[in-house]
Amino acid sequence: MESVTSLLESIADVGRDGQRGGYSRPVFSTAELDLRGWFIEQAGRRGLDVETDRNGIIWAWWGEPQRGALVTGSHLDSVPGGGAFDGPLGVASALAAVDVLKERGVQPNRPLAVTVFPEEEGSRFGVACLGSRLLAGAIDPDKARNLRDEHGTSFADAARANGLDPAHFGRDDEALARIGDFIELHVEQGRGLGEDGPAIAVGSSILGHGRWRISVAGQGNHAGTTLMADRADPMVAAAQIILAVQQIAAKQPDARATVGRIQPVPGGTNVIASRVDLWLDARHPDDAVTAQLVETIHGKAQKIAAFEGCSVSLTEESYSGTVHFDPALQRQLENALPGAPVLATGAGHDAGVLAARVPSGMLFVKNPSGISHSPEEYVEPWDADAGAAALADVLEALL
Ligand code: GLV
Ligand code: MN
Ligand code: MN
Ligand code: MN
Repeated sequence: MESVTSLLESIADVGRDGQRGGYSRPVFSTAELDLRGWFIEQAGRRGLDVETDRNGIIWAWWGEPQRGALVTGSHLDSVPGGGAFDGPLGVASALAAVDVLKERGVQPNRPLAVTVFPEEEGSRFGVACLGSRLLAGAIDPDKARNLRDEHGTSFADAARANGLDPAHFGRDDEALARIGDFIELHVEQGRGLGEDGPAIAVGSSILGHGRWRISVAGQGNHAGTTLMADRADPMVAAAQIILAVQQIAAKQPDARATVGRIQPVPGGTNVIASRVDLWLDARHPDDAVTAQLVETIHGKAQKIAAFEGCSVSLTEESYSGTVHFDPALQRQLENALPGAPVLATGAGHDAGVLAARVPSGMLFVKNPSGISHSPEEYVEPWDADAGAAALADVLEALL
């Protein structure tokens, strides 16, 4: 087996972000396209047959594509300034697991496919798991086509520039029927396995999560000539809204709420902004609690904005309810990996979207610091190889 670390080292220079640190590999960027090319090459070396489907998902087949196949994979795009493992670990481990199965002389009883999903992070077009959502019919293709990046390029145009026909986006029942079971291996993104815990866990569920855009509108003006008493400054309202998000979520057990992105318009040092957009990421196991949390934040934001002479609007950009993975498949994973702990995750994954349509499950590989979506995300080389071996065990048991 080629070690997972050696596979990841072969892409270590792709998409490095000199400014933020770590990697920025947004979907259809040069970096992500290079990684897709790398994957296709690696799949070819292993004798897998590669195709890209109408939603931009790459499939690499061991055996003839047919219904009920065993499918494993993850994504190659990243958040801005992300780590080396979120996404690529699952793809590299799948390739390494194919090596292991071939070394073991496994003769699959059904085909195996390794997949790469586009725009898992939603870091370019705003909606996470866009490829799997399109495949599963979990997003209106029109909405997907019209999503825009920060430069105003639509997802449809970006896809077209990369050889896809956006008219063909959408639920793909034929492709779904080919997935008998879907397994995604992923770096653990919290401290679920601790520093000294076991290397591998089996996933049980994904926390419900969503994204909302909060737009605060005020009066754009001159920083020098506008008296403090005369301002309607949306940045001042936005600052208080961010504090309110933290305070409201802290009172709600098990809730997580984050403002990780804020954009003042026009954004000049000597300019009082006319508008500030901020993006809220909110998560909780109970969908009704998340809805209530967001409503409470909205109400508080309206009060803050009014006090500052501004107005506010809140728009849902995406939502995924809490997902419990297929119990029968989860049991098969647990049986294949005796003693592996079972973990819930607070992070979203393509496996969570696919779970609505096909039996899906996940494996997590230990991340000693628990830090993720950061350049400091880490997996020890021996744990990465243990992850690939565990994935191979699981695939062998299911093939
Ligand atoms: C994806 O990594 C998410 O949970 O936002
Ligand atoms: Mn991620
Ligand atoms: Mn991921
Ligand atoms: Mn001037």
